[in-house]
Amino acid sequence: ARDAALAEIASASTPDAVASMTTRFAGKKGELAGLKKRLGSLDSIDEKKAAGAAINEAMAAVDAALDEQRSALNAAALAAQVENERLDLTEYVGKPTRGKAHLVTQAWERLEDVFVGLGFQVAEGPEVETDWHNFEALNMGEGHPARGEFDTLFVDHVPPGGAPGSTVLRTHTSPVQIRTMLEKEPPIYIVAPGRVFRRDTPDATHMPVFHQIEGLVIDRNISMADLAGTIQAFTTAFFGKDWNSRLRPDYFPFTEPSAEFDIQRPDGSWIELGGCGMVHPNVLRAGGIDPEEWSGFAFGFGIDRMALMRHGVDDLRAMYADDLRFTSQF
Ligand code: PHE
Repeated sequence: ARDAALAEIASASTPDAVASMTTRFAGKKGELAGLKKRLGSLDSIDEKKAAGAAINEAMAAVDAALDEQRSALNAAALAAQVENERLDLTEYVGKPTRGKAHLVTQAWERLEDVFVGLGFQVAEGPEVETDWHNFEALNMGEGHPARGEFDTLFVDHVPPGGAPGSTVLRTHTSPVQIRTMLEKEPPIYIVAPGRVFRRDTPDATHMPVFHQIEGLVIDRNISMADLAGTIQAFTTAFFGKDWNSRLRPDYFPFTEPSAEFDIQRPDGSWIELGGCGMVHPNVLRAGGIDPEEWSGFAFGFGIDRMALMRHGVDDLRAMYADDLRFTSQF
C-alpha cells in the first residue's frame, strides 16, 4: 500500500490531484488511518508493534512525498507564469512604418501654401451644387451650348421651390466664385481647391472624380496684366525659378476676355495647365458685385495631372489604384 501510494503521488500532475490524494492517503479517514484502526485485531504485542511502526513509517513517507509533489508542482506553475509574463525589454521590434499623404493631398496642400504665400485666402464650397451656382450664375443660362462641355452628373433631388434636374455634382470649382462673392465684400483674394465630377470613363487622363483649384481676385482696377503676373508668380513659386508661363486666347462663358494658360519647363517644352480670364460682368452681377466699381480675374486648373507631372507619372489610374508599392514611393 505504501509503495503504490508513493508511486501514485509522484505521478500527480496538478495541485488538485495532490489535494485529493492527501485526503485519500493521509487524511483521518484515509487508507493508512484505516490500517491503524485494524491493528487491534492482531494477536501478539510484537506483531502490533512491528505493524504500527511500519504504518507510522509509511505515513511519514506519504506525508513527505505529498509535500514534495506539492512544492514541485507549485514551483512548476510559478516558473510557467514567470515565463508567460516575461517582457523582453531588449527585443528589437523594428521601425514603425509611416503613413503617407496621397499624391493629390500633397499637391493640394502645396498649392494652398504657395497661394497663401502670395496673399490669398482658402475658400470652399459644396460638392453637390445647384444648377444656378454651377451654370446659371456663371453666365451659362439654360440651353447654353457650353453646358454640353461639362459632362454633368445630375443628382436625383428636387430642392424646395426648385425644378427636377436642378441639383448637380459640381462640374468645376467655379461655383465657389459665386458663393464667395455673395458671402464677402471685395476686395477678394481667394483660392478654392476641391473635388469635382464629370461623367467620364476612367482612362490615363480622365477620372469621373477629380480635383481643381479655383482662383478669384476682385479689387479695383484689376487688369489682364495682374492675371498674367499672378500666374507667373505662381509658376515660379510652385515649379521653380526656371519655369515660365503664357496666356493664349480661349473662350469661357464666365470670363471675358478668356485665356488658356500654359507653363514652360526649363527644357523649353510647354504644358497646358488651365483656364482663366477677366470675370464677366454678368458673373459679378450674379455675385452681387457692381461691375462699374470692381473688376477681377479668375483661373482654374486640375490638381491631379499636376500631382503626377511633378513625379513623371503619366497615368492617372496609377494614382487611384491605392497600391502601396506605388504610393509609398512619393
Ligand atoms: N472652370 C473652368 C473649367 O473647369 C476653368 C476656368 C476657371 C476658366 C476660371 C476660367 C476661369 O474648365
